[in-house]
Amino acid sequence: MAETYKHWRIETDSDNIAWLIIDRAGSSTNTLSTEVLAEFDCVLDDIKAMVPRALVIRSGKASGFIAGADIEEFLDVKTAEDAKRMIRRGWDPFNKLEALPFPTVALIDGFCMGGGLELALACRYRIAVDQPGTRMALPEVMLGIWPLMGGVMRLSRYVAPPQALDMMLTGRAIDARRAKRMGLVDQSVPPRVMMNAARMLALEAPPPRKLPFVASLMNSPLLRGLIAGQAEKQVAKRARREHYPAPYAILRAWSKFNGDPFAIPDDDSASIGHLLSLPTAGNLIRVFFLQERMKALGKASKFEASHVHVIGAGVMGGDIAAWCALRGLTVTLQDQNAERLVPAMKRAGELFKRRLRDKMRTRDATDRLIPDVSGEGARHADVIIEAIFENLEAKRALFAKLEAIAKPDAVLASNTSSLKLADIGANFANPGRLVGIHFFNPVAQMQLVEVVSGIRTDAAIADKAAAFVRQIDKLPLHVKDSPGFLVNRVLGPYMQQAFRMVDEGIAPETLDAAMTAFGMPMGPIELADVVGLDICMAVGKELGDGAEPPKRLKALFDAGQLGKKSGQGFYRWADGKAQKASGPGAGSDAGPDITERLVAPYLKEAKAVVAEGIVADADLADAGLIFGTGFAPFLGGPMHYAASK
Ligand code: NAI
Repeated sequence: MAETYKHWRIETDSDNIAWLIIDRAGSSTNTLSTEVLAEFDCVLDDIKAMVPRALVIRSGKASGFIAGADIEEFLDVKTAEDAKRMIRRGWDPFNKLEALPFPTVALIDGFCMGGGLELALACRYRIAVDQPGTRMALPEVMLGIWPLMGGVMRLSRYVAPPQALDMMLTGRAIDARRAKRMGLVDQSVPPRVMMNAARMLALEAPPPRKLPFVASLMNSPLLRGLIAGQAEKQVAKRARREHYPAPYAILRAWSKFNGDPFAIPDDDSASIGHLLSLPTAGNLIRVFFLQERMKALGKASKFEASHVHVIGAGVMGGDIAAWCALRGLTVTLQDQNAERLVPAMKRAGELFKRRLRDKMRTRDATDRLIPDVSGEGARHADVIIEAIFENLEAKRALFAKLEAIAKPDAVLASNTSSLKLADIGANFANPGRLVGIHFFNPVAQMQLVEVVSGIRTDAAIADKAAAFVRQIDKLPLHVKDSPGFLVNRVLGPYMQQAFRMVDEGIAPETLDAAMTAFGMPMGPIELADVVGLDICMAVGKELGDGAEPPKRLKALFDAGQLGKKSGQGFYRWADGKAQKASGPGAGSDAGPDITERLVAPYLKEAKAVVAEGIVADADLADAGLIFGTGFAPFLGGPMHYAASK
């Protein structure tokens, strides 16, 4: 009889199949800590000695299979030797698992990330349970490292190398059906048959899947070099090597060393020692923890919404409603008349199709989004979000009606960008009920949502709002009701500086190139065109000190050239892309002086926001500015960057 373990359970059924259940003690999620992996190593010896007919590994948690390595432990890794010791803890047992002389099956129900997927890849077969929570990914690249416990070595045995590399280079998560199509799993099955499917596969033990012939050729050493070279060109378009060395290391590790971290010399650019010697990995791990902190802000309340009512089906309201329906909530969407709802419903349909890639789920999401011109939905909703025109009187009149008909415990929220919550809530019977839930445009892409507390907002309501933001899978950040809150306040002076520099005669291309070289995802002038020059004018007015607006910005605005949405702004736009001039003077050699002049107002404002207590502390300011403005994640956030300069 096997010994008892803390994190693992072995059960044997009447067919002599061993079922190994991972159930990490003291945690709601399975992660692969040192202790969990050390036990796994012993468990495998025990199971081997039991001589079962087959082994099935599954999770004992309600949530997911395995979330990955225990990233807390990364904080103790200081040297290349520490890192190698840590990698061995998974590398050895996964090899042992792979070498077992009987069929092995990973039954993946829910998330299966990083080390969890590396473990599954060491099994002979994989079954994914086809439900919305099942997501498989190798997201190590986001932490500035690569899948070091056999993932790079094993993934391209089952998945054609171009797709395998794409998974590792982007960290993108794959659902059950896609995983089946790609060959990452052998079967994708509905939840009700999952146990039986695992049992049958273990008993039948068909020959393990092999890559189709052409794809298998791509794994030859010669073609690996060619494919990695092609992939590197694509990577270079998205991430500079000096900012993000990990994707380049992945390509090198795969093409030259077959993903074996122990075969790579310490001084090689693909080695873990080299990656850890650069600041990027440390800063990206910092960003991971900042993100966890924001997630935790959603846990202060147990509030769970089932019905959201959104008023105003414009740019923001329409997309907020669609996002909530996508995330499984029932949504009623109200506007002044039915015609105004049409574009929002059309955009929602496109979002569902793109994200869900499944007819039934798309239909279900469409059914959850209900047009509601009469506004009846407000009576039943758990959360009501106002996203009408930015007009104080209109918002006050609307909330007077809403407060009277809403359920007593419903959250009443405004998406306002520039009005004071205290002003909107001035006539409330209970002003403590009003909170700001401030989304960013485009809603589907932007992860951050500011939860704004006015001077009278109840703390418990703000916590409910943060819980709701988490429920729809966004990152909440509490901010005070002050002009521009966090994100627009910090972006404002930076954008104004860029506009003034255009007025000085510096080409927009030069400014944008300077900031993308610094590490921003998009330069300030292109960003202005994307946001809309009307909005830039309004924000400048609101946050400005009464100075004249920048000349070029004003001239474009006056001419109705509002940026991307009108096809012309600072740039001409075609096929959704800014048409930038290239060649001498277009900005490829923007000097450090330009960068410094653009970054300085950003950092100054970030410091001011922290000093004024608009956000709770410098770390949360970094979190908000990374996820709300895209501030170069590899620098660890503006406050962190300013402190380490
Ligand atoms: P929009 O002009 O695109 O849409 C507003 C919609 O509200 C229109 O469809 C209009 O018919 C409807 N509406 C107006 N009064 C109404 C009423 N009494 N009842 C029902 N529907 C009514 O506006 P947008 O850009 O979506 O902005 C909405 C709110 O979101 C504003 O408070 C704005 O400050 C805020 N916001 C806007 C962002 C942006 O990038 N556009 C970003 C973040 C917040």
